[in-house]
Amino acid sequence: MAYNVTTTIIQVARQRPATEIMALAGEVIRGGGLVAFPTETVYGLGANALNPEAVARIFEAKERPANDPIIVHIHMFDQLNQITNNLPSGVEALARRFWPGPLTLVLPKSDAIPHSITAGRDTVAVRMPNHPIALALLRAAGVPIGAPSANRFSRPSPTTAAHVRADLDGHVDVILDGGPTDIGVESTILDVTSAVPTILRAGGVPLEALRAYLPTLAYAPQYLLETVASAPAPGNLLKHYAPHAQMFVYEGDDDEAVYDAMREQALSLSNQGQAVGILALNHEILNFEAITAQIVLCGRDSTAFAANLFAGLRALDTAGVQAILVRVPSPFGLGLAVRDRLIRAAEGRVLQVTAQGVDSGGV
Ligand code: TXA
Ligand code: MG
Repeated sequence: MAYNVTTTIIQVARQRPATEIMALAGEVIRGGGLVAFPTETVYGLGANALNPEAVARIFEAKERPANDPIIVHIHMFDQLNQITNNLPSGVEALARRFWPGPLTLVLPKSDAIPHSITAGRDTVAVRMPNHPIALALLRAAGVPIGAPSANRFSRPSPTTAAHVRADLDGHVDVILDGGPTDIGVESTILDVTSAVPTILRAGGVPLEALRAYLPTLAYAPQYLLETVASAPAPGNLLKHYAPHAQMFVYEGDDDEAVYDAMREQALSLSNQGQAVGILALNHEILNFEAITAQIVLCGRDSTAFAANLFAGLRALDTAGVQAILVRVPSPFGLGLAVRDRLIRAAEGRVLQVTAQGVDSGGV
């Protein structure tokens, strides 16, 4: 790989990021380098969004296809003028309602934004993250920062500095370690350039919260098997967020039927000599008492599930399991984003369970 560097990991106090550290990290960004940093969603891999060579390094480090556009991060509303020259009406009020926060807006792009950031599109994705370290970095850098999630392409997104290091050691100049991220799944992507405002990716802002503000809102997740240049959110490939283990993702309203199917599968895999992992909400553990498996508990509800999802997938991979079984949470609140990431991790193969049996038809 062309970009090979010594990676420096720096601990940063989340509530009071030290001025000297942030000045140094801002200097690295201005000098065309790469800085990984925590946001409220996941860790980002940042570069000066206005410098095409710096942006090219992001693609190299992640081994990311060039047709997958990158989100631009800002820390104040004035920076929008630099990024877009045509703010659709009502969008500033919308941004002021949800920023700083886990909402990414797709807007018409200005000439200042390099084509590599937008993968040649005439739109640009922008957000203002709600995390003291991300905001301090943006202030110190003084330029908008382009940042995808700081994982290797197709790996689960990083929610800790250790995840970033595991994927990108030697490919990023600085990792700012601010502890685990809060939300755990990426931002909600909202396209406001289309006739009807459309969610392209479920994420940290729940659909219900956006719909309360935008009643006509549409949700149009894309599940693509391969990169299609014309797709609305080309990064939305299946086989995104995938662990090495094979995923068995279950969905259905009939608790008994779902857990029966999961137990049967776990047993059959163990009998074949496979190490089985289970990702579960705390209360689900009672259903797996008789099963030999590594169980990672993700908490009590879908908000906790979101916070622990990617770390759980990575932990089970590290534990060396060959299969991961999980039940999709209800698609409300952050459950919708968790469902979306599980579908992708399973490359679209969702096992729909009813009292009549299991249907592996997919989404
Ligand atoms: O929470 C997040 O959004 C994190 C943190 C670091 O901010 N970032 C993130 O970036 O998830 P990434 O690159 O992993 O996902 C961004 C996705 C792309 O894959 C693409 O689908 C979509 O955003 N995107 C970017 N620019 C776009 C555009 N102009 N039009 C449509 N979709 C776009
Ligand atoms: Mg990503």
